[in-house]
Formats: sequence, C-alpha cells, structure tokens
Amino acid sequence: MLHGKKAFVFGILNDYSLGWHIARELHQQGCEMGFSHMPGEKFERRVVKAVEPFKPRFLTPCDVTKDEDIASAFKAASDNFGTFDLLVHSLAFAPAEVFANPFIETTRAAWQTALDVSAYSLVALARAALPLMNPGGSIVTLSYFAAEKYIPNYNMMAVAKAALECSVRYLAAELGRHEKHIRVNAVSAGAVKTLAAKGTGDIDRMIEHYQQKSPLPWGENDSATYVGKSALYLLSDMASGVTGEIHYVDGGYNTVGW
Ligand SMILES: NC(=O)c1ccc[n+]([C@@H]2O[C@H](COP(=O)([O-])OP(=O)(O)OC[C@H]3O[C@@H](n4cnc5c(N)ncnc54)[C@H](O)[C@@H]3O)[C@@H](O)[C@H]2O)c1
Repeated sequence: MLHGKKAFVFGILNDYSLGWHIARELHQQGCEMGFSHMPGEKFERRVVKAVEPFKPRFLTPCDVTKDEDIASAFKAASDNFGTFDLLVHSLAFAPAEVFANPFIETTRAAWQTALDVSAYSLVALARAALPLMNPGGSIVTLSYFAAEKYIPNYNMMAVAKAALECSVRYLAAELGRHEKHIRVNAVSAGAVKTLAAKGTGDIDRMIEHYQQKSPLPWGENDSATYVGKSALYLLSDMASGVTGEIHYVDGGYNTVGW
C-alpha cells in the first residue's frame, strides 16, 4: 500500500510505544522511514534497538520544545529523504505532579510544559514538515478521550489533548486548502500500557475499566496493533477524503454511556 512512500515518525521510545505499532504497519506496507528520538545516549540506544526491524533511513535527536532541534531534525529528513509523504506525531508529556495532584493545583509551569510538548509540537512539526512534504501527504497524531470527558488523573494532559484535537482541525483546514492538500487527523486511542500511560496514574485499573465497558475486547496485546492499523488507514490513500477527524480506536469505549 505504501511502496515508494516515506514517513518521518516522532515518538517511539520502545516496542510498546504506539508510534512503534504505527511504524510496524507502515513498514509492512513497504514505507521507508526516518525516526526522531529524545536527545541523550540512553534514549538513542533504546530507540535504535526498537526501530532496527524497520531498517530506518535515518535517526535524529529532537526535543520538540526546542526550535533548533526541530530545525535540525527536518534538515536530517531533507538530507536523507529529499521530500517525504507522511508525518507521525506520537508524543506527549506532562510533569508527574499533573497526574498526582488535583487539577485545581495545576501550576503555570506544568500547564505550559504539557501544552508545549503535547499540543504545540504538532503545529511546530507540521510547519517544519510542510515544505518537505509531497502533495497528498498525511499527518497523524495521537489523542485520548480525556480531551472530551472527565477521566480521573488526566488533569492538565486532558487540556493538552483538547488543544491538540482543536489544532488538528485548524491544521486540517489550512493544509487541506494548501496547494499540496495535506491531510491532518488524530487517532484517539483507548488505554494501552506504554511508558507514558504508566506515568498517568493507575493504568492497570484504567485498562480493567475498558475491559468491563468497551463493546469489543480491549486491553489485551492486540490493542496497540489496532491503533497501528487505523493510523495506517489514515496515513494511506484509503483515507484520501478524510481530514480534520478524531478517529476513535478504543474498542468502542467512547460510545458507551454507562
Ligand atoms: N498509551 C495510551 O493509553 C494512550 C492512549 C491515547 C493516546 N496516547 C498518546 O499516544 C502518544 C504516544 O504515547 P505512548 O502511549 O506510545 O507512550 P510512549 O512513552 O511510548 O511514547 C511517548 C513518546 O513521547 C516522547 N516525548 C516526550 N517528551 C518529548 C519531547 N519533549 N520531545 C520529543 N519527544 C518527546 C517520548 O520520548 C516517547 O517517545 C502520546 O501522545 C499519548 O498521549 C496514548
């Protein structure tokens, strides 16, 4: 499905990462990929190991809070790819205090960090990607239901996801009308046990809740694969008429009202 296509993937830490499951689907469809990792030898080693099966064209450090890192990451993409087709944004961060304290205790600093890493970064990466993206390209980010409804512990990360989803719509409107007609969508994933998810509080209890409530089985090993497959759909020409969407991949959890 993706022979001859190239993707730049942000947000893989290990083979539990949702970004990794997206990359696996892209790789299986013949897509060539470059990857970013958080700066630092420890991160680099983990990511090199995780993406090795995908035969990466390049790996480049990038802390998305730093404009100079973003510029050098896209320079690496330009040097290695020339142009590319797909951008995967699968990253988020909020300080631990955000998940541990009541929402009313949110500090200005924590608010800014969560929004910067988890929402603004999509805008910054899309802007840097646009000159290098081929016409008809596609951008996918990862959101969560807490953007829309109260979920215990999510607090400021929920606000950041709401900003992310709104940014998807604004980017989709602007980039869709751009001469390159780039699509921008989000996958709103159900709870999956990743490192980031473990940091949000009681992920085991959350997954148990999904298992009780969602129409389809959720929380077993296959859940991350489902996320990867739906992201593949949104990134591929199968979704060529789809943009600005928040696409739930959560076993139907969001549709249940009790
Ligand atoms: N796991 C879940 O239950 C779940 C559900 C819905 C949405 N999501 C979203 O999926 C995305 C990927 O998370 P995951 O669950 O795969 O966890 P993960 O820990 O595997 O991935 C998070 C990634 O964010 C990166 N990151 C954090 N701060 C960064 C920064 N300043 N610059 C660059 N990269 C940075 C980390 O290095 C890591 O690669 C996130 O947006 C997350 O909110 C996860």
